[in-house]
Amino acid sequence: MCGIIAYVGNKKVSPILLNGLQRLEYRGYDSAGIAVMNGDLSVIKKKGKVQELVDLVESIQPEGITGIGHTRWATHGEPNDVNAHPHTSTDNKIALVHNGIIENCDTLREALRKLGHEFKSETDTEVLVHLIQEYKTRYKVSLEESVLMALKRVIGAYAIVVMDKDEPDLLVAARKASPLVIGLGKNEFFVASDATPLIEHTKEVVYLQDEEVAVLRSGQPLQIKSFQNIPQNPDIVELDMKIEELEKGGFPHFMLKEIHQQPDTIADCMRGRLNPIEGWTRLGGMEPFKDRMAKANRLIITGCGTSWHAGLIGEYLIEDLARMPVEVEYASELRYRNPIINPNDVVIALSQSGETADTLAALQHAKEKGALIYGIVNVVGSSIARITDAGSYIHAGPEIGVASTKSFTAQLSLLTLLAIQLGRERGEIHRDYYLKLLKELSEIPNKIRNILAKEEGIKKIAAKIKNSTNALYLGRGYNFPVALEGALKLKEISYIHAEGYPAAEMKHGPIALIDENMPVIVMATNLSAYDKILSNVQEVKARKGTVISIVTEGDKKIKSLSDFSIEIPTTIEPLTPLLSVIPLQLLSYHIAVMRGCNVDQPRNLAKSVTVE
Ligand code: AGP
Repeated sequence: MCGIIAYVGNKKVSPILLNGLQRLEYRGYDSAGIAVMNGDLSVIKKKGKVQELVDLVESIQPEGITGIGHTRWATHGEPNDVNAHPHTSTDNKIALVHNGIIENCDTLREALRKLGHEFKSETDTEVLVHLIQEYKTRYKVSLEESVLMALKRVIGAYAIVVMDKDEPDLLVAARKASPLVIGLGKNEFFVASDATPLIEHTKEVVYLQDEEVAVLRSGQPLQIKSFQNIPQNPDIVELDMKIEELEKGGFPHFMLKEIHQQPDTIADCMRGRLNPIEGWTRLGGMEPFKDRMAKANRLIITGCGTSWHAGLIGEYLIEDLARMPVEVEYASELRYRNPIINPNDVVIALSQSGETADTLAALQHAKEKGALIYGIVNVVGSSIARITDAGSYIHAGPEIGVASTKSFTAQLSLLTLLAIQLGRERGEIHRDYYLKLLKELSEIPNKIRNILAKEEGIKKIAAKIKNSTNALYLGRGYNFPVALEGALKLKEISYIHAEGYPAAEMKHGPIALIDENMPVIVMATNLSAYDKILSNVQEVKARKGTVISIVTEGDKKIKSLSDFSIEIPTTIEPLTPLLSVIPLQLLSYHIAVMRGCNVDQPRNLAKSVTVE
């Protein structure tokens, strides 16, 4: 996600824009820029943090009372000065900022190129401003009309604010699936991605609804219309949140906000890559290499921490669906153990930050051995993204909480699509099962919403075990790596020692640990190994362990044996981790809060381990 700020009124606009961008920096921070209208359109933008832009703008001191600003979280085109927003039309009359993803940007770019348009950046956003210019000049219409005409051609998610040298006291804002808020001042309007930058200027806001456009002229009443040009009655609301709450979207911590973002971030990760109605999946980054990847002797998945856990699930997915041999390696081990890696191997790196030193080093080692390197990364233009031969971004947006949550489920979503693509390429997935996979994948966001609605019950369980000194997480099959991930979440934010184990392994040692002080979290959603898990639960109960089971809705047997149960919707086995991890994230979060831990910045940890 990115941060948008805009202003039209009677005050000097640049300080309003810069202060607004500083408030919005948590939404994205790889590059930033502003455009100010002062007779001419002046655009100042650069790679780097907002503070670097502030220093630059303060040295220029642009005049003007209309302007737009943007702090970027790159999705198309790596972070650099050219790809930074705002983007301008060829005639440098129109400037635009955008938050979202334009799925059909390639098609639109080709059509505009045929009409003589030339593009400076790699972004999807620049296509949109050229499209608006094309309509404005071709049909000699207003900025508002050209925006509406252009948006009819766009497929994707967007929140945009546009301004035009020919109408210098006007802002046109529009949204579809990305947020925009309008602040109402005295003869002035503010627009922003959320209310954070508005609250110091006004408490009266209007949340623009999907497929609505706002026409903002200083000194004139607010106009809101549907994309069909039908006037809408604005619903003016009073802001009553404090600034820091707004940055967290009203949640007490970034981690909880990010846990709750998962239905949307998984949808964003699959946007343009999955269509269950028409029956297709597409991974653009894999296309040029799909033949080599499908014919590879072996896939090696590497990463650290939560990303390594995602890799384990990736192994199960790819071997299950594509019938290809997969190995999963801790990056720190792969780089030092003198591994055998050949040119017909494919090495897949998983990394949220794209900057983890061990993962980067392991990839460089694999590259020297001639393997194809594929990256599954969240931060666009990061070091790992830049050294890979190909890759797919997970589009989870900035993950501020040190504990990975939304990036984990986005990694799993991407790995599932990768396994499906490989399976299809190798003729290993029958069309009927393929369509079932697509349907089940598309239903995951709503099923996660169903689980998130059970948070209060999970919080009650957290209260029961918050003073434990140890915990054991058990799972089988696809749920074994989920058990590892649940244990990592608990230990890294609550400082309770926790271990994840394959449930069957309990007999080979950990069972000696079980007594009435040991909570045992059992992932019991398995379809194929249900009876085995049932006997594991009985073994724990026989030793007075406290069993917290994650079960499928409607379960009776394991639920009746458990001290506490959390029911989650059913899905097909390969997609189970996308659901079974959610209660574990919430459980660890609430235990950590009850223990007074610093949930977003746990002791001794960093969000990105860029050192060995
Ligand atoms: C997990 O919650 C931690 N944040 C940590 O284990 C993390 O997954 C690991 O450091 C890898 O980071 P990366 O995904 O950015 O490479």
